[in-house]
Amino acid sequence: EAETRRTVDSLSEVMVEAARFYKQQLKSSPVAVEYLKRRGLTGEIAGRFGLGYAPAGWNGLQAVFSDYLDPKLDEAGLLIVRDDGTRYDRFRERVMFPIRDVRGRVIAFGGRILDKGEPKYLNSPETPLFEKGRELYGLFEAREAIREVNRVLVVEGYMDVVALAQHGVSYAVATLGTATTATHVHKLFRHADRVIFCFDGDKAGRRAAWRALENVLPELRDGKRVDFLFLPSEHDPDSYIREYGREGFEAILDAETVPLSAYLTRELSQRVDLGSDEGRAEFLNLAKPLALAVKAQALSILLRKKLAEMAHLDVDELDRLWGLRRGLSGRQG
Ligand code: CTP
Ligand code: MN
Ligand code: MN
Ligand code: MN
Ligand code: MN
Repeated sequence: EAETRRTVDSLSEVMVEAARFYKQQLKSSPVAVEYLKRRGLTGEIAGRFGLGYAPAGWNGLQAVFSDYLDPKLDEAGLLIVRDDGTRYDRFRERVMFPIRDVRGRVIAFGGRILDKGEPKYLNSPETPLFEKGRELYGLFEAREAIREVNRVLVVEGYMDVVALAQHGVSYAVATLGTATTATHVHKLFRHADRVIFCFDGDKAGRRAAWRALENVLPELRDGKRVDFLFLPSEHDPDSYIREYGREGFEAILDAETVPLSAYLTRELSQRVDLGSDEGRAEFLNLAKPLALAVKAQALSILLRKKLAEMAHLDVDELDRLWGLRRGLSGRQG
C-alpha cells in the first residue's frame, strides 16, 4: 500500500500528522474499536474527541514521516531516543487521546493501554507545545457547552470527560494526571463563573480535591464560585454515569455538591476536637493560611465569620488574632 509520508516544518504539524495516523489506525484495529465499545463509547464521540490507536511495533510512525530521524519528532515527544541514538515510538498498543489547546491544536497525547498493564496511561512529556500545569483535557471540545451552562466540571481522567460527553454532560474537562493549579482555575474562570470539582470517590480523589482547594483559594473572586462533588468511594464520573445515566449524575450533582467554604470548614473540623479550647485553637491555626489566601472580599469576610463562630470567638477577635486589625480589645491607641 502506497503511503504518503510527510515532510514537516513545525512541531504543530508533527502533531497533526501523528493524530491523523493514530485516527486511521483505530479504524483498522478491531481490538481497539472493541475496547472503546466495551467502555460504552460510540463512533460519534470517538470522532468528536479525535480518538485513535497507536499500533504495536517499535517504529509505526515511520509510515507517517519521511524522516524518522527528524529531531522534531523527538522534540514533539513522539519518540524515545536511546543512549546510542536509536529511536522508537513512545506510544505503542494504546488508545490515543489527543490533547488540544483551547484553539483546537493538538499539543500532546495521552495513551491508554488496552486492558491491564503498566503504566495504565502514558502521556506526552512536556514539550515546547505542552505545559502540563496549564492545559486541560477536553476544554476545546467542551468550551461551547461550558459557556451555555456557565459552569465547568473538573474531573481526573480522559475517560471521565469522554464518558460524560457520551451521556450528554459535555461541560467537563480533566487535569492531566497533575494537581489542579491556580493557572488551571484562572483559565476556567474565563469560560464560566462556576467551577465544580468532581474527582474519583477514592482516597486519591479526595486528596486531589483538597489540593485543588488549596490551589484555587487565591483565584476566588466575588461573582465566581467553586464547588465540590464527592462521589461514592467506588466510583469515578465515568463509572457513575455509566451506572446511573445522565439523570442520575445530574441528580447527585444537584443534591450533593458542596460549596468550597462548606468543604473547607467540614474538613478542618474533622481534623480537630472542636469541643476543647485547644482543639479550637488548632482549628484556627489550620484555617489561617487558607482563609488569608482568599482574595474575594465578601467570601473572605463570611469565611472568617464562620471560622470565628466555630472557634467561639467573634470576628473582630479573630481579625485581631490574625493581624488584620490593630489593637487588642481596644486597649491600644
Ligand atoms: N493518569 C496518568 N498516568 C497513570 C494513571 C493515571 O497520567 N499511570 C492520569 C490519567 O489522566 C487518568 C487520570 O490520571 O485519566 C485518572 O487516573 P485513574 O482514575 O487511575 O484512571 P481513569 O481515568 O479512571 O482510567 P480508566 O477508567 O481508563 O481505568
Ligand atoms: Mn490568577
Ligand atoms: Mn483514580
Ligand atoms: Mn478514575
Ligand atoms: Mn475510570
